[in-house]
Amino acid sequence: MTTLALDTPVLARQYEDLSDKQYNHGKLLLGDLGLGRGQRVLDVGCGTGRLTEYAAGLVGEEGWVVGVDPLPLRVEIAKRRGAANLLFREGRSENLRDFPADSFDAVFLNSVFHWLPEKAGSLAEAYRVLKPGGRLGISTASRERPHALERIVQSVVERPPYAAHPVVSATTPYKVTSAELAALLERAGFRVRSLEIRSFVDHFDNPATVIDFSRSSSFGNFLGTLPAALRASAIEEIKSELAKLRGPEGIVLTRNLIFAVAEKLDPSPTTRSTT
Ligand SMILES: C[S@@+](CC[C@H](N)C(=O)[O-])C[C@H]1O[C@@H](n2cnc3c(N)ncnc32)[C@H](O)[C@@H]1O
Repeated sequence: MTTLALDTPVLARQYEDLSDKQYNHGKLLLGDLGLGRGQRVLDVGCGTGRLTEYAAGLVGEEGWVVGVDPLPLRVEIAKRRGAANLLFREGRSENLRDFPADSFDAVFLNSVFHWLPEKAGSLAEAYRVLKPGGRLGISTASRERPHALERIVQSVVERPPYAAHPVVSATTPYKVTSAELAALLERAGFRVRSLEIRSFVDHFDNPATVIDFSRSSSFGNFLGTLPAALRASAIEEIKSELAKLRGPEGIVLTRNLIFAVAEKLDPSPTTRSTT
């Protein structure tokens, strides 16, 4: 079970420093969304706001971008960003009540969807706040093609003594397949415009950086279902496995992400079924 209670100032700062991977694939997602000048955009699960700030550059002074995230320490870092068309506040995907219906041209969740235990409520909220014809962009880990790190971590936690403590998922806990994501989007009333898996090859200097990246990206949830002492020894075993992979280009790991863009149809399925 993921908790939002494990974030710390150190993890939040590390995320700001180590999140180039999310930032770079997030730029691709924003490219897919085709953000234009003057648009109103919502970044759901904005973290420390790096990609939100980039989106603000794309929409220009005539547009504006809001970032929401449930982690106060990350929102605090995000709020230090200076752009006049950029706003941050604490908030969660499943409750966007601060925002009126039909108010955004685009909503995006970059590396957030796999942290949401329940998807339908969040998609319903994204649908509600989007204008008719507005677009939702999602990048999320794919269940059908796990990251290389997932397989390494899984191989360790399946060993004794860790195996006695079930780990829901070695890395991101609530992954979907492409087919599941398409079905969820359609059920929420969206028309899927594009959906594909893209692979990214990451280079890490050493095993400790992989662990710092995983802990900060998971806001402290990495191996969180293991008791603390076991978690520490599992991390040492994972580091040993990662060290075996180290070559001239460092530790090379592949991530596979689903990228989806969907459009809000109007009227909503509820309206359609009652008229
Ligand atoms: C890996 S970070 C991605 C941050 C940012 N989108 C980026 O691209 O750098 C995952 C983020 O999901 C956020 N998150 C977790 N549960 C959430 C929820 N229920 N609603 C909105 N965001 C959530 C976390 O707080 C965290 O900042």
